[in-house]
Amino acid sequence: MDILLGLQWGDEGKGKIVDFLAPKYDVVARFQGGPNAGHTLFFDGLKHVLHQIPSGIFRPAIQNVVGNGVVLDALILKKEIEALQKLNVDVKKSLFFSKKAQLILPTHRILDAAQEKAKGSNKIGSTLKGISPTYQDKIGRSGLRLGDTLYPNFKERYQAIKAKHLEGLGDLPADFAQTEQEFFDAIEFLKEFKMIESEYFVDDAIKANKKVLAEGAQGTLLDIDFGSYPFVTSSNTVSAGACTGLGVAPNKIKEVFGIFKAYCTRVGSGPFPTELEDETGESLRKFGGEFGATTGRPRRCGWLDLPALNYAVMINGVTQLFMMKTDVLTPFDEIKVCTHYKLEDGTITDRLPHDIVTQKIEPIYKTFKGWEDIAEGITSFEELPKNLQTYIQFIEENVGAAITLVSFGPERNATLMKDELQVV
Ligand code: GDP
Ligand code: IMO
Ligand code: MG
Repeated sequence: MDILLGLQWGDEGKGKIVDFLAPKYDVVARFQGGPNAGHTLFFDGLKHVLHQIPSGIFRPAIQNVVGNGVVLDALILKKEIEALQKLNVDVKKSLFFSKKAQLILPTHRILDAAQEKAKGSNKIGSTLKGISPTYQDKIGRSGLRLGDTLYPNFKERYQAIKAKHLEGLGDLPADFAQTEQEFFDAIEFLKEFKMIESEYFVDDAIKANKKVLAEGAQGTLLDIDFGSYPFVTSSNTVSAGACTGLGVAPNKIKEVFGIFKAYCTRVGSGPFPTELEDETGESLRKFGGEFGATTGRPRRCGWLDLPALNYAVMINGVTQLFMMKTDVLTPFDEIKVCTHYKLEDGTITDRLPHDIVTQKIEPIYKTFKGWEDIAEGITSFEELPKNLQTYIQFIEENVGAAITLVSFGPERNATLMKDELQVV
């Protein structure tokens, strides 16, 4: 099994590249996160945003698996599936759900909003999809799983959890009864889809020599353990999460594709050492179209952060780097890269300190010359603009992994691989 995951704060372009690589694979599987994700695919002049459905869904031969590590919102899922069916995607044939995936209940979303409100100015900037309360119930051993919907006591169990949630909530919204009815309708709708033991499913696929690609959501710097805690999401977004989120043993992992933007973005609150709160940041947002695919919020923008990238490469065991959105930097004459941090006590380091939340960090930059547009139809890295080649080489030398894919536009065909990908 190979893994493709984000090395920054999410939105690196995972959806685009999973869709691009999918023809090399038989199975694409999500292993964590839920509707907080927004993965954009762009082909035949049309844009598609997927939240809970793996990005292999538009390739008819692919089996798409939603693993046990995912938290599922049935209401959002029903809408996503119906939208795909309108496009004649045969979702019933190609979509498989783990019976162990946790369910996001309507009260989880209300709790998410209440918990964010209670944090006041320390709010996380959650997508308010109920992610944190659902994972809290999972870890608290009181969550409901998709497979539980198949038992006659499902509604009873639902009511018990809802009663527990209500203890921590005031009044429910006036339209809650309607939302609840829609939730139960969506659960019935989902029962028409394939619910599987995804750990056996993936294991059988690997044993049959089928190629499996695990698709990460969010990014390494949002990981619950290794991200900028507490400004993180509530799951393990790193490669180890693919093992627990799918039931695949670590020795089955082959390639780990780490995907990053040629600069940095972050949506929501939390530390961002290279953030540019000036005209340059504004230009990055404008040229990069940096607005959230799930919430529409403007993304915060800044230069590439090598200490953070290095850390992400280490934690994930990245074997190949994919660099995205190189076209967005073409309007800039000068491009900066943070190589080190200066800490409050004057220490200069290329390592990510354990606390980047309360400690003020000053990035130390190296400046590069900008590059011209990438010519359409080029077939090799040697044909990339010289200054971009210099940029690539510098990152490779400092991060210790090769950049084997460069993306220069949202469409499938604005992608250049160094060599044809061999999936073993
Ligand atoms: P994901 O969450 O990692 O799948 O990424 P998102 O879909 O949230 O955000 C990536 C955005 O960048 C989307 O709007 C993509 O269409 C777009 N995109 C991806 N690759 C490129 C690229 O190389 N150049 C440009 N200009 N846009 C890109
Ligand atoms: P994809 O898969 C970018 C951010 C939120 C918030 C924090 C916690 O599209 O890359 P949550 O709703 O998970 O409790 O929010 O994490 N966040 C993302 N940022 N891309 C995502 O997903 C994200 N999913 C969550 O903005 O700061
Ligand atoms: Mg996204």
